[in-house]
Amino acid sequence: MKIIKVKNPAEGAQKAFDIYQDALNHGVKVLGLATGATPIALYEKLSDSTLDFSNVTSINLDEYLGLDGNNEQSYRYFMNQHLFNKKPFKKSYVPNGISENHEAMAVQYDQIISENPIDLQLLGIGRNGHIGFNEPGTPFTSTTHVVNLTQSTIDANARFFENESDVPTQAISMGIASVMTAKNILLLAYGADKADAVAATVNGPITEQVPASVLQNHKNVTIIIDEAAAMKL
Ligand code: F6R
Repeated sequence: MKIIKVKNPAEGAQKAFDIYQDALNHGVKVLGLATGATPIALYEKLSDSTLDFSNVTSINLDEYLGLDGNNEQSYRYFMNQHLFNKKPFKKSYVPNGISENHEAMAVQYDQIISENPIDLQLLGIGRNGHIGFNEPGTPFTSTTHVVNLTQSTIDANARFFENESDVPTQAISMGIASVMTAKNILLLAYGADKADAVAATVNGPITEQVPASVLQNHKNVTIIIDEAAAMKL
């Protein structure tokens, strides 16, 4: 793992931007993307740049079940707002939160991933070490699947909703095995509340109890962390 320590999230966004600029300049074809607070500053920089994504396909990690793309809390909406409306991609895939058959949709999503091998996968990390919505205990062999969110994740996501009762309790997520197929992985983590998860990811045992620890098994992982997130390393 290559660890890049930065002073603050703004510097992290700049370092991440440089990685994307370089990837685009080298003809990257498929980007795996994430939502959440962490990548917003990066998406802002990408949106304001002159980079051209019209030949790039994007594949997002996850989506809440029960929310359609017009719902402001959906991840499809988030991606449109923060990136796709300003930077059109050749094609952008986000799991469908309102499909009639979630299992069939999951199989189809894995098919999309295998037809569009991910060159660079962006990840955030949950306070419990989740990546995508792969919660602790998710098998490392998992492919795209329906997830029952843990209370810790529901609590963390509540900040984006008016009422806690509006926070979805289920999501559909790329699996850990799906994430691990990416040629390169870039994980961003900022803030003291990520420090335990970062330490367990980098120095802890590789265990399904800390989903991100699987990244120790991947050859090309870069982690950008600020001082607060690096506190326990
Ligand atoms: C989002 C995702 C999640 C987040 C994680 C961190 O697509 O897959 O794993 O990356 O929950 O969220 P933030 O960035 O809001 O702290």
